[in-house]
Amino acid sequence: MKFLPLKEISEDMFLAHAVIGNDGRVLLNKGTRLTSAYLHRLEKMEYTHLYVYESPAEDWNCTGLLSDRIRIEAIRVLRESLIRVVERKPLDEPLISFIIEGLLKDVLQQEDRVFDIIDIKTPDNYLYNHSLNVAVISVLMGRQLQLEQEELKEIALGAFLHDLGKAHIKTATKKIHALSVNDTVHIKQHTTRGFETLQASFSLTVANIANQHHEREDGSGYPLGLSGVDIPLSSKIVGVANAFETMVADLWNDQALERLTAESPAKYNPKVVRALRQVVAFYPVGSVVELTDGEQRVVVAVSTTKMMLQNPKQLSDLLELPVEEFSRIAKRVL
Ligand SMILES: [Fe+2]
Repeated sequence: MKFLPLKEISEDMFLAHAVIGNDGRVLLNKGTRLTSAYLHRLEKMEYTHLYVYESPAEDWNCTGLLSDRIRIEAIRVLRESLIRVVERKPLDEPLISFIIEGLLKDVLQQEDRVFDIIDIKTPDNYLYNHSLNVAVISVLMGRQLQLEQEELKEIALGAFLHDLGKAHIKTATKKIHALSVNDTVHIKQHTTRGFETLQASFSLTVANIANQHHEREDGSGYPLGLSGVDIPLSSKIVGVANAFETMVADLWNDQALERLTAESPAKYNPKVVRALRQVVAFYPVGSVVELTDGEQRVVVAVSTTKMMLQNPKQLSDLLELPVEEFSRIAKRVL
């Protein structure tokens, strides 16, 4: 398996995950041979990278902790919720709640899973994938911090809906990289607007997550400039998960984790950053890593207890690295 830029993918490779449209339709199935017509279509959709198999016999999981079913349903519900916000209609609380129950089940069913994928986003699906990733990471962090099931559900809801206020801001939903100063001023309002919408249908904890996920420990965040103890743990968790998920648009996981650690305790709570480091793969699936002996291998599976490393020249040559030997990895090279 490889994680490759589109221009390096050739017609003898196979798609390693389904491609899902924002309306929830499956556009391409996992295992599809990537003909030039498909590649052209994906390029038009502004995909820049894909996970690919080099042999149809490969079956490594590169879709993260969510099943396609929950991912599809969640995207559909989030899209509908954004439309409802614009149309000033109330949110469908029972439906959202139902989807979040499914998400929690997917995320929590295996104790040893971590957030292990390099996410594939396009400007069109950015907000959906970002929201789902932040929800998954936040739930894993909450479990790591030994929160109760009810608290995990509120965190999942708040994380899933944390950027709902962006429904009002046209330029906000598509941005992947840095924004202009003008955009930034405008976008800051999404926190308060999200709070106002969520307050009507959900608990204060959930609404507060939307309002407070950009607050920082030293009071430098927005909208209120809250600091330290005034920011609830649930909002701190989603704030850190959101910062990480935003950073990995430009950084590798290991680099983003190092940056967040460096900015703690000033911006981020150390206990919460520690939880993040425990639930996110340092080298996610698809990373090419160099071992201390100089050999290069592709990460094809990773958990809290072990990692599977594939020889890129000999696909059946796999190296299983137990957690005690993770230090044999010198660095990520691709
Ligand atoms: Fe946000």
